[in-house]
Amino acid sequence: MRNDSDVRKPAILFLCLGNICRSPLTEGAARAAFAAAGIEAALDSAGTGDWHVGHPPDRRAMAEARRRGVDISDLRARQLRASDFADFDLILAADDNNLRDARALRPANATAELKLMLDLVPGRAGESVTDPYYGDDGGFAATWDDVSAVAAALVVEASGLSG
Ligand code: 4NP
Repeated sequence: MRNDSDVRKPAILFLCLGNICRSPLTEGAARAAFAAAGIEAALDSAGTGDWHVGHPPDRRAMAEARRRGVDISDLRARQLRASDFADFDLILAADDNNLRDARALRPANATAELKLMLDLVPGRAGESVTDPYYGDDGGFAATWDDVSAVAAALVVEASGLSG
């Protein structure tokens, strides 16, 4: 639930399929970027699927984040729920499938804006953050590069809002 102290504090939910690779990496990158910029934000992540609910991020995701100086080991997977569309201002989906599944769950009175993560990054609108789950460890480095660009774009947007 949001309250008066949250006024002007952006609430952003990052969404992928399992909530163990792309969206926890995005949450970690965004937490680090917002903290570095000194901007408060309510950040969370979720998956459209329920296979990994309660699990920590994939060990390859945790290792990649650690390489970049960010600890995401305390995150636990959860599934997207209808109330997220009221609790968050913005829901950012990693790919088109996540976007389609989120639209299907979106209540009629939803207030959250829903779009692709890379829509925020200049020149990359409409692109997906590639799912690294079935690939090799190198895929996680590419995912980090993508999601840290998303995090940087969010901070630029939030600085404009609070400035
Ligand atoms: P994520 O990656 O959506 O980025 O967390 C995946 C995680 C798990 C599965 C697929 C993708 N899975 O099939 O279990």
